[in-house]
This record gives sequence, structure tokens and C-alpha cells, in this order.
Amino acid sequence: MTTTQSALWAGRFDAGMSEALRAISFSLHFDRKLLVYDVRGSQAHARSLGRLGVLSEQEVLAIVEGLEGILSDIEAGADLYLPSDEDVHMAVERILTDRIGAAGRKLHTGRSRNDQVATAFRLYVRDQARKAHAGLLALQETVLAIASEHRATTMAGYTHMQQAQPVTLGHYLLSLFFALERDRRRFCEARDRAGRNPLGSGALAGSAFPVDRHKVAIELGFSGVTENSIDAVSHRDWVLEYLSACAILGTTLSRYAEDFVTWSAAEFGYVTFSDQYTSGSSMMPNKKNPDGFELARGKSGRLVGNLTALMVATKGAPLTYSRDLQEDKEPVFDSAQTVEVLLGIFRGALQDATWHPDRMLARLTDLLLATDLADLLVDSGVAFRDAHHIVGTLVGEASRSGRGMLELPDSSWQSVPEGIALRGKLSFEASLSRRNIEGGTGPESVERQLAQAAQCLAQGSLLQTKIDRGGF
Ligand code: ARG
Repeated sequence: MTTTQSALWAGRFDAGMSEALRAISFSLHFDRKLLVYDVRGSQAHARSLGRLGVLSEQEVLAIVEGLEGILSDIEAGADLYLPSDEDVHMAVERILTDRIGAAGRKLHTGRSRNDQVATAFRLYVRDQARKAHAGLLALQETVLAIASEHRATTMAGYTHMQQAQPVTLGHYLLSLFFALERDRRRFCEARDRAGRNPLGSGALAGSAFPVDRHKVAIELGFSGVTENSIDAVSHRDWVLEYLSACAILGTTLSRYAEDFVTWSAAEFGYVTFSDQYTSGSSMMPNKKNPDGFELARGKSGRLVGNLTALMVATKGAPLTYSRDLQEDKEPVFDSAQTVEVLLGIFRGALQDATWHPDRMLARLTDLLLATDLADLLVDSGVAFRDAHHIVGTLVGEASRSGRGMLELPDSSWQSVPEGIALRGKLSFEASLSRRNIEGGTGPESVERQLAQAAQCLAQGSLLQTKIDRGGF
């Protein structure tokens, strides 16, 4: 079965495209998201053709204003698209020509859809990276406020999901802050990487019209131009970097979501989430489920999947442009939306959460101080491996008798060199204060980390102001 629509490229064709091919090749239903970026790219291209004298001043004006009108009409809800429009780029050119006539037919001079798409998509990715950066900053701000409030709230730190050593909740939350700081920088780097102007690359060999690519770059907020036209229309590594920033952020959030879900279980009781970020059960009236964090954990799967999808889709595509590359859009649209939602949920759910320091304290067992006892033995001259064994014996005895280490009788402690004296030095507070090493959980170290985090936020907001001013 064939359709008889006439495409802008239909000159050499006798028959229309089959419905089957159309179903996978037409992309307007998703790439209409690129409208504003396509319009900005085309306006810059028209101006540069004007500077070359290829278009007259009136033609440039008609094109620039015509494009602006299309953008505002569609944004206001007008449905200007036709079923015969293959993608947003073709649609805009067709509507423009319908509206302004002959000048519209000149817009594509010296340009291919290959460099046109690369331009619009780079602008889109930059814009999304900018938004993710803003969302991350807001989340970091929330995390820092809670960390600051709970800088001295003592809780068990875990390895292998088993109680390991005392830490503070503030210290734990600062680990999230600094992980998000790296995520934020990754989005910045992805934004920079996408920041080269590919217009002027033509289909693959470079445009035959010597447009000033640097001027266009400045107009579009790019920091430079792509160095090689084949590279410019072929590669999507900069998209992969963006998707990778999304996927890594997904894994960061997923791990914290997992901890928070666990901590909200009755067995832990460290935290309670608000009604707004939880849901009930259709059958069990007692249930309050931490859906926000569960979904955050679950959605990380699609963020990783989107990165994988594009890696696989591009790895076999021969240079330069191959239609495979059209598959770059949907994973990005999905990841961009997912990241935006996840950052909002994480922020809101944490802002609303109630932490329970009393329950954290109640769950601490004195076995968390075993390493401190070994360290104290080292201080008094015992080799660490021997100290480890001595304390291990004591811990074994405590576990077998179902008691805490500090509850064992003096006779047990007498097998530890200077045991009775050392026992008096063991406390959660003392354990924390021994760890004022840079990065540690000691109170002075946590203070320094809080200050460092505040500095990161200040730098981050300066950067945000700068990139917001750039528009995209
Ligand atoms: N919609 C296509 C894409 O996003 C446009 C590029 C088509 N280029 C071409 N030479 N057929 O990749």
C-alpha cells in the first residue's frame, strides 16, 4: 500500500512511501518538541544567508518574522501540522512557505537537514542540561539544609547492609550532596560538549555558501563551531554524554531511594514520609507505601536503558548521516522528562520527610564501637592485627551471649590488655570525635564539609545565572 503525499524531497520519486515505512520514518509526532530550537536555528541561518547577500534584507525579515509567527501560533495551540509533514523541520519549512511564499523556498539554501537537525538537537540537549542543572541545585540545597539540621544526629553507618560504625545523619546526607555535585558537573560538561555549532556542515561535505559559522554560533549561544563537517553530521557522542549524565544521576538517586525506603520500614523507623509522597494499598488499610522513592529507584532503569538504546543504535551506523540517527530523539526526550520529575520528587519528598533521631539512637548496638576498641589498643602499642583478634574474641563472646560488648562482665574484659580502662573510653560520641580527618564523620569534619557544600552551591548558582542568561 502506498500513500500519495508529496514530500519536499519528492522530485525524483514516482510513487509515494509505503504506510509501513511511513510508520517508522515519520517523526513529527515526537520531534515537534524541537520546534523552538529549529526556529532559532533557521532564523540564525536566514540572517547569515542575508549577510552573504544570498537573501535580500526583506527576505530575511519575512523569514525571521514568519518563523516567529509559526512558533507563537503553535505555542498558542494552533494545529498547523499536516499528516504529510515528515518531521518538524520539514513542517516548519512547509508552513513558512505556505505563509510567506517564495522567500520560504530559499531558506534551505546551503543547508541540509543533517546539519539542521544536529543544530536543533544540540540546542535542545543544552537546554535540558541547563534545566537538569537547575533541578540538581535545588535538590542539593534541600539536602544541605537537612544535613545541616542533622549534623550531630548519630546513627548506625552500614556496610553490607550490616551495622558497621557510628556516623551522623548529616554526614550521610552530605554524601548525597557531593554525589549530586558530581552529577551537576556532569550535566554542565554535557552542555558544554553539545555547545558547538554544526550549521554550515551541509549534508556532509560543508556548505558551498561561505556562511559565517562563528557569527551563527554566537547568535545561538554556542561557544564555537564544529571542526569537521563529517564529524558534525555523523556523531552523537555528545548526546550519549547527556544520556550518560542522566543514567548516572539515575543510579545515584536509586541507591539513596533504596536506603530511604528501607529506613522507612517499621523495622528501622528512621524516617517517615509525608502523605504527598506515599500511597495507600487498595486492600490493606494500614499501608503507607514510599512510592516516590520506589519509583525513583525504578525509573533509573529506563535512564540506563535510554543510554544503552542510543549506544546500540549508533554503533553500527556508517558515516556520515544514516537514518539510524533519527533514533537519537526519543531516548533523550524520555530521559529529560524522567530526570525533571525525579529531581522534583526527591526534593519534595525529602523536604517533607520527618526524621527520627531517637529511633536511630535506639538501634545502635555497642558492637559499632569494636573498631574504636581495636584502635585504642593500637594507641597503647598493640599491633592492629593482634588488636583485631582480641576485640574479635570479645565480640564473639558478646554475640553468643546475646549481649552488648559493654555488658560483658569484667572477667571478659580482663582478657583485653588494660581492658577495664579502655572500656571507659568507649562511646558513640568518642567514636565520632576521633574521626575529624578530612571527609570523616567527626563533628569538625562535618562542619567543614557543610561549609564546602555551601561553597559548591554558591558557585553552582552563579553558573546557573550565567547559563540562564544564555537562553538555552
Ligand atoms: N528527522 C530526521 C532526523 O531526525 C531528519 C534528518 C533526515 N535527513 C535525511 N538525510 N533524511 O534525523
